[in-house]
Amino acid sequence: MTTRSLFLLPGDGIGPEAMTEVRKLIAHMNEVEEARFSIDEGLVGGSAYDSHGQAISDDDMKKAMAADAVLFGAVGGPKWDGVPYEVRPEAGLLRLRKDMALFANLRPAICYPALADSSSLKPDVVEGLDILIVRELTGGVYFGEPKEIIDLGNGQKRGIDTQVYDTFEIERISGVAFELARTRSNKVCSMEKRNVMKSGVLWNEVVTATHKEKFSDVELTHMLADAGGMQLVRWPKQFDVIVTDNLFGDMLSDVAAMLTGSLGMLPSASLGAPDSLTGKRKALYEPVHGSAPDIAGQGIANPIAMIASFAMCLRYSFNDIETADRVEKAISNVLDQGLRTGDIMSDGCTKVSTSQMGDAIVKAYATA
Ligand code: NAI
Ligand code: MG
Repeated sequence: MTTRSLFLLPGDGIGPEAMTEVRKLIAHMNEVEEARFSIDEGLVGGSAYDSHGQAISDDDMKKAMAADAVLFGAVGGPKWDGVPYEVRPEAGLLRLRKDMALFANLRPAICYPALADSSSLKPDVVEGLDILIVRELTGGVYFGEPKEIIDLGNGQKRGIDTQVYDTFEIERISGVAFELARTRSNKVCSMEKRNVMKSGVLWNEVVTATHKEKFSDVELTHMLADAGGMQLVRWPKQFDVIVTDNLFGDMLSDVAAMLTGSLGMLPSASLGAPDSLTGKRKALYEPVHGSAPDIAGQGIANPIAMIASFAMCLRYSFNDIETADRVEKAISNVLDQGLRTGDIMSDGCTKVSTSQMGDAIVKAYATA
């Protein structure tokens, strides 16, 4: 097997604590299974600012661009509230997304059986849930121009954001969704608001055409995004892959996430376009949660979101489905054993630290 290069950016707060647990798993894979991961590590966010005044250095940016995959912890915290806007911790993540052109954000919502009764929905609604939201990440209303606040001069101001989507952007994000669906239950539901938005009409047209041209073996349905929100909480198991734009995806993925429990459980992937020569995609994997300054440094953070992000990395960057499945199974087994960090603690379970949770997952992986 060739060497697989990982660039680690642990960041701030609980980011480094969670990353330590991923390192244990990678070390185990290298030592026991000769997995040949090479690891390099850089600074991002507040810790990068403290060290050299930038949210990420050019040198670390180069390493991120060159690596097979980037594992990102979390950035930010009250310590950096006063730093200039251009070098605030989030600027590091935004630069990575922009320079690596990470247009596809993948957010799975998986309900681990042991946590089914801690969802805000009834256990039978969420048990066995396994859906994937594919959100367009570099276009739409968050980036469209004009984007400004104008003074109308009569004591009134006008705030403007513009939703813009071009054909190629819709083609490439729906292509990702269809390809992923083929590796799962082969169903895609596309969500927009074509009843009130021109960009929604185009979205619907292009997804339909892309489907017809290249992916007609996949089952495609369309839903208005507001109805999609209702269906997600009414009967989420009707979905397999959902593809939607940047704004709707931001909200729908947060809704889907909460069907399954704590922020400390949720991984994500952000993918770029495949390289025309090698076919490799630039990719960054990160937990959905932030730096959790309220619990940082106490050794109590849940490392599962970070470890599950690494499982996504195995799946999507290295096509190592078997190992990805084993890591996810190890997480599931540890939860079945009743081990819980504070954020997912419930009656009759055993409370463990960040490091105990990481050790238990490595052990469960090793013996699976
Ligand atoms: P947060 O996700 O950091 O924390 C929200 C709540 O969930 C807190 O009570 C926290 O203790 C808990 N929590 C989060 N992850 C956990 C884990 N792994 N284990 C146990 N409990 C966990 O969001 P918040 O508080 O809004 O933001 C804190 C900082 O993180 C801010 O500076 C924010 O800008 C930054 N942030 C960074 C993100 C990133 O790096 N991608 C994403 C979201 C927020
Ligand atoms: Mg959000």
